[in-house]
Amino acid sequence: MIQDMIVILDLGSSENTRIARDIRALGVYSEIYPHDIGAEELKNLPGVRGVIVNGGENNVIDGVAIDASAEVYNCGLPMLVVNHKSAHRAMDLENWPEDTQKVLSDFLDKCGAQHNWNMENFIADQIELIRQQVGDQKVLLALSGGVDSSVVAALLLRAIGDQLTCVHVNHGLLRKGEAEQVVNVFRREMGANLVYVDAVDRFLDKLAGVSDPEQKRKIIGAEFIRVFEEEARKLEGITFLAQGTIYPDIVESGTKTAKMVKSHHNVGGLPEDLNFKLVEPLKMLFKDEVRACGVALGLPHDMVYRQPFPGPGLGVRCLGAITRERLEIVRESDAILREIFKEHGLEGKVWQYFTVVPDFKSVGVRDHARSFEYPVIVRAVNTIDAMTATIECLPWPVLNEITSRILSEVKGCNRVLYDMSPKPVATIEWE
Ligand code: XMP
Repeated sequence: MIQDMIVILDLGSSENTRIARDIRALGVYSEIYPHDIGAEELKNLPGVRGVIVNGGENNVIDGVAIDASAEVYNCGLPMLVVNHKSAHRAMDLENWPEDTQKVLSDFLDKCGAQHNWNMENFIADQIELIRQQVGDQKVLLALSGGVDSSVVAALLLRAIGDQLTCVHVNHGLLRKGEAEQVVNVFRREMGANLVYVDAVDRFLDKLAGVSDPEQKRKIIGAEFIRVFEEEARKLEGITFLAQGTIYPDIVESGTKTAKMVKSHHNVGGLPEDLNFKLVEPLKMLFKDEVRACGVALGLPHDMVYRQPFPGPGLGVRCLGAITRERLEIVRESDAILREIFKEHGLEGKVWQYFTVVPDFKSVGVRDHARSFEYPVIVRAVNTIDAMTATIECLPWPVLNEITSRILSEVKGCNRVLYDMSPKPVATIEWE
């Protein structure tokens, strides 16, 4: 089914993704396109019903003033021009953004756009498209157990069943119970072809003695690709590789000029000689839509609504050179923290919370004797876009409960600290 669509022309505003999400929240599909799209191409986009031109403050990208072409302004489609300082200004929006919803829904009425964007239609369309693209060929998916890859797996299972093979690599840096959950949900409950690879020793051996965070990330990323590639070569007749790419990954989100703070590792970048074609069924979805899709496909709530988890996993929370002993302290304390958050209804309210274990010990007393053990640092932050973050003001009794449970249940830890540092100046992760 061709959805009616509102096109947002990107003239450098950081608000574009928010407008697209607002329009989709009103039930109409919306996509963002570059400002230099031609009028013909624009008019021929499938389902296009109207155009929003949004330049933000200055209509400048990388120091160069930009605008859409005169033909685009005169292409005959209903047009809403926002915050835009050009001679073509069609409409002044004094109340933007306070009146955003009203302005947008009036504009949708003006365009006569059908409100048919919902997950049911999306899933039905994607099943159709995936079947068309894949035919009777086989598809491979790296299933980390994160939200995106899990939703891709569930969608592909619906569409092509056992033409899909999932590979789950346990690199030993997962949270407690995660690998088991992946096997349970996908192999046992959903009947997927799932190859489970226990690569724990292999990763930990590679990481032994490596203390530089960027080096650790690179090793984890490279080793992941190597293991996955080895598994892929063992499988016969695979044509497609499925990936959990989502819309924010492909929309330029104003980060073009941002300096690299940390190199973020995510699965990708397989060697070219494997020659896979890509299947990316979520590439037009925002994160909240991916979750809604997961729910509609019947995935467990805690898998779909889990907090963000970095690609290198607990590896960047076991500071410095990773040891099995400290990794276990991170894993156990993280599990306790998650349990307590759940009990207190904080799950889903706090954006990200986890524990960190540094590579030094401090003196304590345990059972009337001197102890020399590791501290555990608790971190709980809120953010909209992970670029800045504030600290969750946890109630004192909750902090007390976290402290006493970690101190009594986690072997090798004699101190618990709460990290009070916002981002900036700190980052969310410690490494
Ligand atoms: P920072 O520490 O940069 O983190 O403030 C911002 C968000 O990104 C996550 N993060 C990562 N995610 N690979 C990822 O996929 C990584 O290497 C990585 N490092 C940080 C972090 O958990 C937070 O949500």
